[in-house]
Amino acid sequence: MPLIRLDKYISERSEYSRSRIKELAAKGKITVNGVTVKKSDTKIDAETASVEVLGTPVAASKFRYILLNKPDGYVSSTEENDGVSVMRLIPPELRKKGLFPAGRLDKDSLGALLITDDGELAHRLLSPRSHVPKIYIVKLDKPFKSKYIDIFNDGLILSDGTQCLPAKLKCAEKSDKLAFIELHEGKYHQVKRMFAAVENHVERLMRLTVGGLILPEKLRIGECMELLHKDVENLFSPPDFDDFCTDFISEFSAFMLNN
Ligand code: URA
Repeated sequence: MPLIRLDKYISERSEYSRSRIKELAAKGKITVNGVTVKKSDTKIDAETASVEVLGTPVAASKFRYILLNKPDGYVSSTEENDGVSVMRLIPPELRKKGLFPAGRLDKDSLGALLITDDGELAHRLLSPRSHVPKIYIVKLDKPFKSKYIDIFNDGLILSDGTQCLPAKLKCAEKSDKLAFIELHEGKYHQVKRMFAAVENHVERLMRLTVGGLILPEKLRIGECMELLHKDVENLFSPPDFDDFCTDFISEFSAFMLNN
């Protein structure tokens, strides 16, 4: 049972300073498990406590995890040297110091981008050694050819000689210009360069999954949602690629075809 001071617990999970927490507690504005706690140095159980300040629940997790459905035209960086940052799309109520995009999508790519302040999780997720699979849907310039499946599965070599890990590929039922691809690595412009190596061209790319994190259809392009603890736990339990593609019925494919 990890006991922690109430003021430390709240300040790690919100914008409140310790002095403000002390003040609010003294005024009876803070509750723990529904009971008013007037002393901010009271020890609470960080794993089970349900804390409210001024009637608003304090996030149970020390870290924040946000899933963004990235739109075209934003850079996956906190810096703005190469364009407008995705961080600007985070609504004020979800903003917090230390947030950064855990991963990269090209400026013109769309889809699932995790934004967090949990450096350790981001490191685990991005480490080349963890091989967390990611599934993308792409709109191709020319029709899909079934020979691509074996070429990608055998570990394709890019035009500059870079060897790729085996990747799974499937043509979407809706159109022979839509395909799903699963990668276990993240080289620069990798999906685009892989299709270029088979003399096709990616016109539009959307990331649908990052490990077990699946872009929900209700999350419109440009929108963010805060993730629940269980979603974050699922990050390292990815879906089966074939099942995912078979079950994929989403407005996103219509969007890909029409834009
Ligand atoms: N591969 C690409 O080419 N671009 C992305 O944004 C992600 C993967």
